[in-house]
Amino acid sequence: MKLNSQVDCPTTPMAHDVIPGLSKRQKSLPCKLLYDRRGSELFERICELPEYYVTRTERGIMEANIESIASAIGPDCQLVEFGSGNSSKTTFLLDHLETPKSYVPIDISRVHLLESARKLQQLYPDLDVLPIPGDFNSAIEIPVGPRPTDNRVVFFPGSTLGNLEEDEAFVFMGRIAKLVGPRGALLIGIDMKKPLEVLLPAYDDKAGVTAEFSLNMLQHINRELLADFDLDQFRHEAVWDEENNHIDISLVSLVDQVVTIGEEAFVFPEGERVAIEKSHKYTAEEFEHLAKDFDIKRVWSDEQDWFRVVLLQPRVG
Ligand code: SAH
Ligand code: AVI
Repeated sequence: MKLNSQVDCPTTPMAHDVIPGLSKRQKSLPCKLLYDRRGSELFERICELPEYYVTRTERGIMEANIESIASAIGPDCQLVEFGSGNSSKTTFLLDHLETPKSYVPIDISRVHLLESARKLQQLYPDLDVLPIPGDFNSAIEIPVGPRPTDNRVVFFPGSTLGNLEEDEAFVFMGRIAKLVGPRGALLIGIDMKKPLEVLLPAYDDKAGVTAEFSLNMLQHINRELLADFDLDQFRHEAVWDEENNHIDISLVSLVDQVVTIGEEAFVFPEGERVAIEKSHKYTAEEFEHLAKDFDIKRVWSDEQDWFRVVLLQPRVG
């Protein structure tokens, strides 16, 4: 068993992520707090929902094009995945790659990450699996592993890029360009702008799984910070922001209430929204702008162009 549990990458204490956001006039909480163990399980259920086209569509694109994706990546790579979740898309990719050397899954949901990494290591005994629990927006030292290679490929599927603020997404793309270097690449999944009749149900499903996923963030804060959010006194809301091309997800206070977090008290008037997540949907031009440090090498898409899997290489010079 070769699984190396890496030193965690730096994370801020949760109170630093929560208190400032709830102290602002427009209250907000960072979307990474959606992912504790339960949050990761709920996200996996979301991926199976009929309304959530994202996972299905991306998987379909990968399945239809896996040979050309694998050959564009080439042999002997180190695969680094930001926000790896249960690594299910990675397993499919690994099955088709030529002699991959190592896999570095990075995820904030520590227990889920380590469990997934352990299973993956058992499945691929010849691969060095080097999990890193932590926040991918912080400075992360990526290990080269015992068998170094200059073909480092960052895999960033699921359109997780769309959950970053625009400025964060720019910084993130710049970091990836440096990380992979001129001989490496980025393989990224991008969710495209599409009709509202498709988008809105994907973020507000009939079975209420997405609502449970959002509300679980409050349970996560209750547990970690000894807070007393009453989950029955908030509701999940997903609306489309046409000006900014994103789904805006909030928790809305159902009554006038006061919530305590440790020593601090926060007033939530009835109807007040706490912004918890944005999910950006891209136009081709917008994504090209974000990818300005890269050359776009290949684009794979579905028939309706709902989703794109893109291979990029850092621009030299
Ligand atoms: N790559 C997988 C999972 C995508 S879900 C797939 O495409 O199916 C997004 C993942 O990113 C979750 O597993 C979540 O725990 C992780 N995540 C979200 N914000 C993060 C952050 N700031 N740092 C590290 N991981 C994060
Ligand atoms: C992980 N991420 C890309 C998902 C999305 O579609 O924005 C998170 C999610 N939030 C609610 N449903 C799914």
